[in-house]
Amino acid sequence: MERFETYLTQHLPKISTFHPIYEEALGAMLLAGGKRFRPMLLLSVVEAYEPLLYESALPVALALEMFHTYSLIHDDLPIMDNADLRRGVQTLHKRFDEVTAILVGDALNTDAFLLIAKAPLRCDVRIELVELLAYNGGGEGMVHGQALDCYFENQPLIIDQVRQLHINKTAKLIAASLQMGAVIVCIEKQTQEALYDFGIGLGLLFQIQDDIIDETHSSQEAGKTTQNDGDKNSFVTILGLEQSIVEADSLARDLQKRFESFDMKLQTALQPLIETYLYRHE
Ligand code: IPE
Ligand code: IPE
Ligand code: MG
Ligand code: MG
Ligand code: MG
Repeated sequence: MERFETYLTQHLPKISTFHPIYEEALGAMLLAGGKRFRPMLLLSVVEAYEPLLYESALPVALALEMFHTYSLIHDDLPIMDNADLRRGVQTLHKRFDEVTAILVGDALNTDAFLLIAKAPLRCDVRIELVELLAYNGGGEGMVHGQALDCYFENQPLIIDQVRQLHINKTAKLIAASLQMGAVIVCIEKQTQEALYDFGIGLGLLFQIQDDIIDETHSSQEAGKTTQNDGDKNSFVTILGLEQSIVEADSLARDLQKRFESFDMKLQTALQPLIETYLYRHE
């Protein structure tokens, strides 16, 4: 985590410009912090199998965090979730303005792929990483989920559709984080796929927990605007708080079992993250 934070602060976008706030705005949301869940997943897989590749994986981990941060900046815009607080600070459009927030999101999205393209990794590995991030984050992944999330505000979906929405919106990028780690260390396809499937479950759990937090935490506790999902097809809105907790617990138990079938190296490296996030709704 420390090495990632150091790498991040040393590799914030540096732009030579006469724009008075652009450079500061590009780095502001990355610097504000966050759990760094996605880069930590990727780096844990790398640490498990090829610790010598950790350094080379750092730009890819940062790319994931930049991509995720772009999604948050756009998610908070007035036209989307209209949130004022993120990562314990003012959202970017509040601190600066909407145009700046839209454009910073665009830049972080594009620059994520630039970082992967320039990473000190084999060509074929970089292409696979680009493909995974684009597929899981783009039109067939996170963006699709956000489209469903916004289009169906105030139109309750059936629970299967709610799951599809959240798998796209959140789980695919989390699953991709694990698989991208596996691609960097060149693990065989079967393990890559097992990790991806586990990541889909973990990501869905992460989003159910996020929906529970929206209901149960104050904005100050969460560091972001909460009590904001009333119009959404969140798990809590559709299933109620109690049933969402039941769903989260049962998914967490299922994931725990699947986790125990991974090889010991992987379990050891991922254990701290699993411990923190499997039951974070409690
Ligand atoms: C928030 O993501 C949006 C969701 C997909 C639930 P995180 O909860 O990972 O936010 P940060 O990165 O810690 O700020
Ligand atoms: C957003 O989900 C997921 C993204 C793709 C950014 P939410 O709208 O629930 O995330 P928060 O609660 O604002 O962090
Ligand atoms: Mg949202
Ligand atoms: Mg939101
Ligand atoms: Mg939320």
